[in-house]
Amino acid sequence: MTEKLDVVALIGSLRRGSYTRQFVHALIKLAEPTRLRIEIVEIGGLPLYNQDDEEHPPAPWVEFRSRVQRANAVLFATPEYNRTIPGGLKNAIDVGSRPYGKSVWQGKPAAVISTSPGAMGAFGANHCLRQSLVFLDMPALQQPEAYIGGVDKLVNAAGEITIPATREFCEKILRSFESWVRLTGDSGARGL
Ligand code: FNR
Repeated sequence: MTEKLDVVALIGSLRRGSYTRQFVHALIKLAEPTRLRIEIVEIGGLPLYNQDDEEHPPAPWVEFRSRVQRANAVLFATPEYNRTIPGGLKNAIDVGSRPYGKSVWQGKPAAVISTSPGAMGAFGANHCLRQSLVFLDMPALQQPEAYIGGVDKLVNAAGEITIPATREFCEKILRSFESWVRLTGDSGARGL
């Protein structure tokens, strides 16, 4: 396998100044020398999931499903809202999971990174998300677990992770994820 692995990153926060988004941009930079090519796929424009619309699915749903379907793997990076994941991310998950029997998540390797300015690193959101991944049959990277606390102070103006130990930890996540995608990857996806 010489081709880079195509990883879509979904960001749980929709706000412009999102620390989670800054963190994902820093990860994308760190991933440049690796075999992972990470691309953010926006979820903020997805209409709320409504089963009634499946007969004529909105164009953003169709485009989103098709983009995820083409990917080798999914990186979820999310803050915590009220001890669970933000509604926008849950909506994206629901959109990708239907119509019944055609879920784009099926068998797709995943990694979960949760973020918070607080010390607990959004542990609650991380594990709520993992609960859905079990049902969606997405093999999720187990270790290292990534609960990123103090995310508001991690990325500098140049878009780099400032704390060396955190940077090394992120490099370790990327290495582990690459191995995980190769090990568990969807045989129908490109590059495997
Ligand atoms: C929060 N925040 C929050 N933080 C946390 O650690 N646990 C939580 O349960 C919550 N709950 C919560 C609910 C709502 C509605 C908001 C708007 C915020 C704080 C949150 O971590 C903080 O706003 C982050 O900055 C959000 O991530 P982004 O947008 O910076 O990526």
